[in-house]
Amino acid sequence: MTNHVDFSHLIDDSRDAQVVMKSGNILYTNQAFIDLLGFQEAKEILGRDISGLIHPSSQKEGLVHDLRAMCGKIVPFNEQKLISADGSILDVEIMGAPFLHVREVLVLAIIRDLSAAKKSEELLRQSEKLSLIGELASGIVHEIRNPLTAMKGFLQLMKSHPKPEYLDIVMRELKQIEEIANELLHFSKPAEQHLTRQNILAIVKEAVNFSGAESFKRNVKVEFYHGDECDIGIIGNKTQLKQVLLNLIKNGLEAITTDGKIKVHISKDDHQVYIHISDNGGGIPKDQLDKIGKSFYTSKEQGTGLGLMVSFNIIKSHNGSIDVESEENLGTTFKITLPLANEEALPLLP
Ligand SMILES: Nc1ncnc2c1ncn2[C@@H]1O[C@H](COP(=O)(O)OP(=O)(O)O)[C@@H](O)[C@H]1O
Ligand SMILES: [Mg+2]
Repeated sequence: MTNHVDFSHLIDDSRDAQVVMKSGNILYTNQAFIDLLGFQEAKEILGRDISGLIHPSSQKEGLVHDLRAMCGKIVPFNEQKLISADGSILDVEIMGAPFLHVREVLVLAIIRDLSAAKKSEELLRQSEKLSLIGELASGIVHEIRNPLTAMKGFLQLMKSHPKPEYLDIVMRELKQIEEIANELLHFSKPAEQHLTRQNILAIVKEAVNFSGAESFKRNVKVEFYHGDECDIGIIGNKTQLKQVLLNLIKNGLEAITTDGKIKVHISKDDHQVYIHISDNGGGIPKDQLDKIGKSFYTSKEQGTGLGLMVSFNIIKSHNGSIDVESEENLGTTFKITLPLANEEALPLLP
């Protein structure tokens, strides 16, 4: 007489895609999983190793390892990419739970399709961007019309009185338009599909190094303080985060007149990473503090007043926050807080 109960119909009837594995080898699956991946029948999948179905870009995140390892722990839902029957990539979340079956440890994995959720998330992001760009539109038109009018005037003047100085002015105005366009590039590029795991420490380091030439030219020391870690994981977009750091360092450089020093400081606790960028420049007048981050607010002749607005937006889209503390004639500190990547699900094995 056998004393185990057959639970297979629970898997068969589930609307969630499920597979049962032994050391990563697929022993059993349901129709929902076959349909999800676009296969015709179960035998195309049975006997295969789960790692063959998971896209290499997400394998390094450790899930496959855990699913194969059966170390007695539940692997919580985890975003992954699967390769479907026709080779296309499918966004899913997978959880794995070990169970004992006839004295063998097997793993039951439940797979949920995330593609619809991802698509609507992306649409939302796009529409947020569009509405922001709509709000900005009148400002942009205004900011571009001024240099255009100036250029037109001086070019007209050049016809009768050709002078090299006029060309310099035209060039300067063109540069102004170019700056505005560069700052707004962030809104025009199609958003990268997903935010992925990034080492924020490395990104900060890159930004600090990148600003080296400019700071040298201005005779400003940029000092970078960090702890013992060499890797601080967050979920984000590298290009955007680097842009934020470069914007803040550049503002610091521009605020400094003499004997400049910029300190970039990174630290973390259990949940968040903190990046502080301080300068000993002229500071922001108290009555101007509430304008910081508003589009087109600038105190500089050649400023766009877009750098901080874009930076604040990027940090917000990373579920982080950014604060500013400033003392006139003493300096300014921008404080970025970002949530750490949840990596608890990853390293289950010694
Ligand atoms: N570190 C800083 N020190 C002093 N003022 C700053 C600093 N960062 C930003 N500001 C003020 O905020 C304004 C807006 O900055 P930003 O959006 O980067 O535009 P821009 O640099 O083109 O002026 C600056 O013109 C300046 O007045
Ligand atoms: Mg700026």
